[in-house]
Amino acid sequence: MKNIELSVCLRRLVIGVNAKVPLDNGKYVNEVNFDNAATTPPFLSVMREIADFAPWYSSIHRGTGYKSKLSSNLYEHGREVIKEFVHADHTKDVVIYTKNTTESINILAYRLSQEDKGRIVISTDMEHLANDLPWRDKFQIEYVGIDECGKLSICDLENKLLKYKGKVSLVTVTGASNVTGYINPIYQIAKLAHKYGAQILVDGAQLVPHAPIDMKSYDSEEHIDYLVFSAHKMYAPFGIGVLIGPKETFETGEPICKGGGGVRLVSHQFIEWDSPPAKEETGTPNVIGVAALISSIETLNSIGLRNIHVYESNLINYGIEGLKQIPAIKLYCHGERNEQRVSLISFAIQGINHNVLAEVLSREAGIAVRSGLFCAHPYVEKLLKLSNEDLEYFHQNHHVSVPGLVRISMGLYNTYDEIDRFLQFLAKIVRNKDYYMQKYKNLK
Ligand SMILES: Cc1ncc(COP(=O)(O)O)c(C=O)c1O
Repeated sequence: MKNIELSVCLRRLVIGVNAKVPLDNGKYVNEVNFDNAATTPPFLSVMREIADFAPWYSSIHRGTGYKSKLSSNLYEHGREVIKEFVHADHTKDVVIYTKNTTESINILAYRLSQEDKGRIVISTDMEHLANDLPWRDKFQIEYVGIDECGKLSICDLENKLLKYKGKVSLVTVTGASNVTGYINPIYQIAKLAHKYGAQILVDGAQLVPHAPIDMKSYDSEEHIDYLVFSAHKMYAPFGIGVLIGPKETFETGEPICKGGGGVRLVSHQFIEWDSPPAKEETGTPNVIGVAALISSIETLNSIGLRNIHVYESNLINYGIEGLKQIPAIKLYCHGERNEQRVSLISFAIQGINHNVLAEVLSREAGIAVRSGLFCAHPYVEKLLKLSNEDLEYFHQNHHVSVPGLVRISMGLYNTYDEIDRFLQFLAKIVRNKDYYMQKYKNLK
């Protein structure tokens, strides 16, 4: 059901939605941004908050000045706001500020690799490289397989947990895929991980901005042990990310990034590390980033993540139904109606290179999408059914363009009109695909 009034209200919350961009023909049009899974534009409230806070901005923790104390309070208060937002435990959990999801996972992978626990991490075929590569050089990594539709095989997960019983320290899984948009059954996965004595990390980069998440209490079998996400995907640029997990995990050992701010006392003979989270936040902290994230959480809460999820689900389902009407389009993937997904989908058009398609959409219609492997190479390769020989061929031949898909991803400010504009132009490309392939043949 189209909710036009809500759409108008939501659009007002975001900056730059009516920006005009140039086309190849010299005309200017309102840009349609369907690349929100990469990064979102900022909330107006976030930019106002930064402008209001700027006169009070100061170095934190080390200064005794009034502004420094004010900045430090905001920085620390942010941790409580974040815990509340995802229902983390106020006493047992720690919120560590990072640059982004990638850094959060790297910090955790390093920390866990220093522990004397199971040497196996179970990841999945569906992961973004941020939740794959940091584990590879530190653990034996086992990947949970996917089915024909690209969904996780829970059966395979349980088989792996059973096979490596007692040796698995962590199951690490994305909350929602940045390729297919599928929302994973994280609570069912948490239950299974705990049943076999492992912990769970949820990569929340694509889930947290689009649906409510609850880490649940420590005594619940469905408890999420670790959660990571990035503010720039939730309308708060300025380079802040989050790693949440049991404080206990970070109490021992050394941080991956060493320097000032993370120590209590150092001599040439010894280093006494501070307690977490300070230990993991060496160097001058990003207080502006924290202010932006707090403000974005306030705005998201005021709309309600459940409302956002419903609105965006309607949008993406409208887009999917429209895509299905265009001949030669293959969707990756769409199993049943009403399946749990965030507001993105990937597709390919037979006979049109994905990079060419994305360029044509941008240069001739002002529509921003993403093409390629979306930093989830193994997943897209599996969806495209590429064999090891195929991959070796692309690996060895750098002059050949690598395969990939085109992705549209929506934010809460996108509209049905924008989807119509996109679908109409896409249908035109399909009707004239030889013309476009010839025109942009040097782009591949
Ligand atoms: C599922 C998923 N995980 C992790 C990341 C990495 O996020 P960041 O680039 O903010 O570190 C992304 C980015 O697109 C993502 O989609």
